[in-house]
Amino acid sequence: MEIVIQPTEEGATGVAARLMARLLRDKPDAVLGLATGSTPLPLYRELARMKLDWRRVTTFNLDEYVGLAPKHPASYHYFMRENLFRHINISEKNIHIPDGMAADVPAFCRRYEERIRRAGGIDLQLLGIGSDGHIGFNEPSSSLASRTRIKTLTARTRRDNARHFGGEARAPHHVITMGIGTIMESWHCLLLAFGKKKARAIAGAVEGPITAMNPASVLQLHPKVTICLDEDAASLLKMKRYYRWVFDNKPEWQTF
Ligand code: F6R
Repeated sequence: MEIVIQPTEEGATGVAARLMARLLRDKPDAVLGLATGSTPLPLYRELARMKLDWRRVTTFNLDEYVGLAPKHPASYHYFMRENLFRHINISEKNIHIPDGMAADVPAFCRRYEERIRRAGGIDLQLLGIGSDGHIGFNEPSSSLASRTRIKTLTARTRRDNARHFGGEARAPHHVITMGIGTIMESWHCLLLAFGKKKARAIAGAVEGPITAMNPASVLQLHPKVTICLDEDAASLLKMKRYYRWVFDNKPEWQTF
C-alpha cells in the first residue's frame, strides 16, 4: 500500500488527478472504475479541467441506488453526468453504471460482471471510503469475496447520505454495488479520503487487521493500492512519519 498524505484535500486530489491523467495518456483505451459521493468531486473537476482525451476510455461505476431512475437528481447516473461525463469527450457507449431500475437484479449483476470481464478488467478503480470502512457499498460484514449484487445499507450509511434525499426517511435502503471480490480484481486501486470523519476508518483499513468489519482493510491483500489522504483523514495513522518519508524520497521514475 502506498499512503500519500498531503496537507490539504486539494493537494491529495492533485496527486490522484496526476496519476489518472498519466494512465489516460499512457493507455488511451484504459478501463476505469469510478466512484460517486463528495470525495471525488474535486478530482472530477480537475480531470475535466485537464482536457484529457476520453474517446477510447471505458468506465464502470461502483454502485447505484435501487429504485432510482437515471433522471433522479440523487441517482449516481445523474451525479456522473453532471459532475464528469458532460464535461469530457467520453463516448456514451463506453459508460457503464449499475441499473437501479433493473427488473431482474441478479441477472443484471451477472451481466455487469460479464461486461467488466469483456472489457478486459479494470485498470484503475477509484474508491472513496464510508465512515464505517465500506468501499463501493460493501457494508461491514460483507463477504470479502463478494461480486456485484444487491446490498442493504446500514443505518449509519443512510444517515451519512440523508443530505442528498432531503432527510433520512427518504434515503433508499438498497443499492447495487460491485463486490469486494470485483474491486480486488482491478489492476490498481486508488482510494481517496478527506476529513476527520474518515480518520478511524482509514486507520483500521491501513493499520488494522483484515476484517469484514472494515471492508477497506481487504485492500492490504491487493498488490497495488494508492491511498491519497489529507492531514485530517490521516490523523489516526501510527506510521504517518514513515509514509511521508517514503513519499518524499521516491525515486524519480516512481513520482506522480
Ligand atoms: C460511492 C461509493 C461509496 C462512497 C463512500 C464515501 O460510489 O462507492 O463507497 O465512496 O460512501 O462517500 P463520500 O465521498 O460522500 O464521503
